[in-house]
Amino acid sequence: MAAASDLILVADGIAKSFPGVRALDGVSLRVRRGRLLALLGENGAGKSTLMNILAGVFPPDAGTLVLDGAAVSFANPQAALAAGIGIVFQELNLIPHLSVAENMFLGREPRTRLGFIDYPKLNAAAAALLRRLELAVDPTTLVADLRVGQQQLVEIARAVSEDARVLILDEPTSSLSAHEVEVLFGVIAELKRRGVALIYITHKFEELARVCDDVTVMRDGRVVGEAAFPDLTRDALVRLMAGREAKETFRKSPARLGAELLRAEGLTLPGAGAGHGRRNLVDNVSFELRRGEVLGLFGLVGAGRTELLEVLFGLHAGRAAGRLELEGRPAQFASPADAIAAGLALAPEDRKRDGLVLPMSVAANASLASLERTLRAGFVSPDREAAYITPYIERFRVKTPSLAQLIVNLSGGNQQKVILAKWLATGPKVLLLDEPTRGIDVNAKREIYAFIDELAQLGLGLIVVSSELPEILALSDRVIVMCEGRKTAEFARADATPEKILAAAFPVSAPAAA
Ligand SMILES: Nc1ncnc2c1ncn2[C@@H]1O[C@H](COP(=O)(O)OP(=O)(O)OP(=O)(O)O)[C@@H](O)[C@H]1O
Ligand SMILES: [Mg+2]
Repeated sequence: MAAASDLILVADGIAKSFPGVRALDGVSLRVRRGRLLALLGENGAGKSTLMNILAGVFPPDAGTLVLDGAAVSFANPQAALAAGIGIVFQELNLIPHLSVAENMFLGREPRTRLGFIDYPKLNAAAAALLRRLELAVDPTTLVADLRVGQQQLVEIARAVSEDARVLILDEPTSSLSAHEVEVLFGVIAELKRRGVALIYITHKFEELARVCDDVTVMRDGRVVGEAAFPDLTRDALVRLMAGREAKETFRKSPARLGAELLRAEGLTLPGAGAGHGRRNLVDNVSFELRRGEVLGLFGLVGAGRTELLEVLFGLHAGRAAGRLELEGRPAQFASPADAIAAGLALAPEDRKRDGLVLPMSVAANASLASLERTLRAGFVSPDREAAYITPYIERFRVKTPSLAQLIVNLSGGNQQKVILAKWLATGPKVLLLDEPTRGIDVNAKREIYAFIDELAQLGLGLIVVSSELPEILALSDRVIVMCEGRKTAEFARADATPEKILAAAFPVSAPAAA
């Protein structure tokens, strides 16, 4: 048992309600120096809300916080940070049109004697932090030009630089590559040695064995379990999270392949220019997709998978080259609107940037891509909108007080479910899913797998991009592997093994163990 002096942060009886939602209902949390506390729970359990309170984003309705023996309350995030509580939020919070270095030191930039920002000093300090996270980007790069995973690392670098005594990481690895995750784990180990306490939110159980010392499980705004990590089995965790027995694991049905649906030949997307190097982002990729088929698209982060989906969806018309056939006829999409009209749908990876309109309701977001079905006399009819979208919202068990709730108020995982609902509601023939289970809890994940399976049985063709090998293996009838823009391998389901897929995913010159 840890001594009381090991406790750096104690939260007691924390409550928080939003209109129509009791997000936290008397939650207590104990955080110890030099240890990592994993905070687990289903989508909407209240994890991020609790972290926002610890980090001073908003005050609790009730409850107390004790930091290092003294009662504290924070008026804003700056106050929490000054007291030693740092946070990397679940959603990216960088300013796109500022540089990496400017973002990292926002509000605490080194100044010259005349009071101007000391850019050489700023950039040098940023470069040192970037090296620590093995992030090979120039500190003067605009954040808008970074991949999502790189942006996430910049946020982590910023938080690490703030010398927090308690560091909160809310799903930090959701868009990191395997190698980036390893670097982060190295940083976490170093922080623990220095006595920093970490609170770590994740839906990826395999990460726990690597970093976790203690676990707290939340359900419906309450703490339902606390233990030293090794004392809990995976099944016990899932049972605590869900409040019921875990369902059996997902079993894919045998594919019933139909006619050819989509054929791509020599798809190529040139690189954007200097910063990204001159190589093609998508380089001469050909494949076909049949009705009833789930095609898994595996690759390391940066392999060109997202760009390939974007090319298919008409997002790079004018720049991309190659031939496309839909149901045997040549197809050319000048825009996503063209692609949608032809029966394609793309649920993108970066939900804040491409997927959702944050100041709009759940219903409006979910029906945005199928507007014509919700119109009455040319205007969106709320009744038709609700009638049309409700089955999708229910199917995914989106946790929301009503369809009128603003999407920005939903938990991260529930926002992701609305994106899937939105694109399914277009009734597509071809569904392109980019990291569909990012931020989704274990049980909801299985429901989404089952739904993908069902759609394939109904005759849709699906292309699923995932960085999670188990997910690719569970879902796919066929697997395509990409590396540096090229298609490097293709496997029928029966021949696809983790070893073969990974071997094709790593660049030839790089060590496969990276
Ligand atoms: N600003 C807000 N306004 C209204 N409701 C909110 C707000 N923030 C959170 N909620 C609601 O509070 C509940 C808890 O949300 P929270 O974001 O804490 O969940 P979470 O455990 O982090 O889930 P996830 O794993 O999906 O990120 C949800 O029902 C959510 O919709
Ligand atoms: Mg959350």
